[in-house]
Amino acid sequence: MVKQRVIVTGAGGQLGTDLVSLLLAEGYEVHGLTRSELDFSSQDEVDEVIGRISPDVIIHSGAYTKVDQAEAEVGLAFKINGDGAGFIAQAAEKAGAKLVYVSTDYVFDGTAVAPIAETAATSPVNVYGASKLEGERQTLAFSSKAFVVRTSWVYGLHGSNFVRTMLQLARQGKPLSVVGDQFGCPTFTRDLAGCIVALIRSDRYGVYHVSNSGSCSWHEFAAAIFEEAGLSVQLQAVTSDQFVRPAIRPGYSVFAHEALAQGGFPVMRHWREALQQFLAMENLGAVGYGGRRADSRHS
Ligand SMILES: NC(=O)c1ccc[n+]([C@@H]2O[C@H](COP(=O)([O-])OP(=O)(O)OC[C@H]3O[C@@H](n4cnc5c(N)ncnc54)[C@H](OP(=O)(O)O)[C@@H]3O)[C@@H](O)[C@H]2O)c1
Repeated sequence: MVKQRVIVTGAGGQLGTDLVSLLLAEGYEVHGLTRSELDFSSQDEVDEVIGRISPDVIIHSGAYTKVDQAEAEVGLAFKINGDGAGFIAQAAEKAGAKLVYVSTDYVFDGTAVAPIAETAATSPVNVYGASKLEGERQTLAFSSKAFVVRTSWVYGLHGSNFVRTMLQLARQGKPLSVVGDQFGCPTFTRDLAGCIVALIRSDRYGVYHVSNSGSCSWHEFAAAIFEEAGLSVQLQAVTSDQFVRPAIRPGYSVFAHEALAQGGFPVMRHWREALQQFLAMENLGAVGYGGRRADSRHS
């Protein structure tokens, strides 16, 4: 049987690395492209690389992800997250490829009081969120086979993230203050990658909210990390006003998973169960799927 050819952008990132490993393990022909192989903010490069590979599927997981820095680099954030997504979508359409655009809960303003449906009105409160929303707009404008996968509070085994930062700080033995008035859904990259692979096997295009189930505040998430890791930490909840950062964060961005349920896709396990697996794998120094290292960029 001919293998389906899949391009993964941002293949050196947290999610990109897991996607490449999972797709290889699932038997796809995988072209995991890091920035040095494809800078997607260049339309010429996008056209050349995608034209040459002629993929069946593109998973656009790469992005400008520096949420605070984006407030000072507005043009760059929009060029990479907005225009870059548009270049990818135009090239995907030309190739006849399915396209997954990975987006964010930061497209919402945080004023919701119940889990947010895919159809809810967007209204980003920071530059990063606005630039990712522009990427969604361009993706849906240019691609007739697009999945927009919004996700939240992502952590994985490759790269820096909240869980790893908390573990590092805890090991320094100092008391910690963590924001207790922002609520969301943590998401393990392995579970997210699995859901994306399920989506690309279908032709149920559209917008999806994809996160682990359940919800928590950052403070509750930190407390769970320490409890599961068996670390005793002096942990205090603070308000967003006491922990001011350049970019405003939405206060509430808990997802409902209606589109997954309606499409017959499995809703992901609870965030706490995913966290337990992450910590177990982190302790074992796990790197890939089924014992394979994730450093093979091509099948
Ligand atoms: N992390 C989260 O909490 C979170 C939450 C919601 C949504 N998301 C979305 O989920 C996706 C994956 O996030 P992640 O945490 O895996 O991100 P990540 O670890 O920061 O990886 C992003 C990757 O994109 C690459 N990249 C940036 N600009 C590029 C360009 N112009 N050309 C080629 N590659 C470029 C980066 O390469 P360099 O290392 O060379 O810069 C990096 O490898 C992103 O779309 C992000 O917006 C993330």
